[in-house]
Amino acid sequence: LARGVAAPDLAGRTVVVSAGGTRERIDPVRFLGNRSSGLQGYALARAAAARGARVRLVAANTALPDPAGVSVVHVETTAELRAAVLAARDGADAVVMAAAPADFRPVGEEQHKIKKAADGSAPVLELTQNPDVLRELAETRRAGEVLVGFAAETGDDATGVLDLARAKLARKGCDLLVVNDVSGGAVFGQADNQAVVLAADGAEVDVPRGPKSALAHVVWDQVALRLAAPPA
Ligand code: CTP
Ligand code: CA
Repeated sequence: LARGVAAPDLAGRTVVVSAGGTRERIDPVRFLGNRSSGLQGYALARAAAARGARVRLVAANTALPDPAGVSVVHVETTAELRAAVLAARDGADAVVMAAAPADFRPVGEEQHKIKKAADGSAPVLELTQNPDVLRELAETRRAGEVLVGFAAETGDDATGVLDLARAKLARKGCDLLVVNDVSGGAVFGQADNQAVVLAADGAEVDVPRGPKSALAHVVWDQVALRLAAPPA
């Protein structure tokens, strides 16, 4: 199916997409971060807008232009991302968590830049776990709201990527989990992606390596299948 002109199958729907990687402040000049570029989340936002949805994008530390026709909120930390996503999900039909929230943050933010000690010693950073936004969305979901997570996994000798992902899907309580196998190297910042979309109802859709926009459309296809019929 050509996607030059997308079918407006999401017209009348409101969707939330999170994108990018959160940063947790250590002191005024340093943070803990990750390598998420936001490209996949922005592709999701653009694809949904092209299919007629009202799109609310929560962007964490991306270096990308705001997509046309999309309402964008910029955040820095996981706590800010959580607050923005919870606000944006109000009245939304679907939430896609493509962002990479930092799992941990420093226990306290230093108000002054941490200086090097003369004796060559290094500070020890104490970390605490951040809230799990997707899990909270699932625990507080409105009937009919479709929830999508993303997971980059590497299998190990004992457990394959898809087994790990199935367990994560169940743990998170979302409807769909988009799984990247990153065993063979990082996908970060690249234009292409390859994935398996796992559904809580047992469905499994293989998405061959291709542009992030193609994966975005497969995700919205799967979301659209699970949306309740619009009010007559
Ligand atoms: N996620 C979230 N809040 C967090 C961490 C992750 O909402 N604090 C979301 C991500 O946006 C993603 C999904 O949960 O959609 C899976 O993220 P992942 O990092 O794979 O899951 P974790 O539960 O953090 O597990 P892991 O220990 O493997 O990192
Ligand atoms: Ca994580």
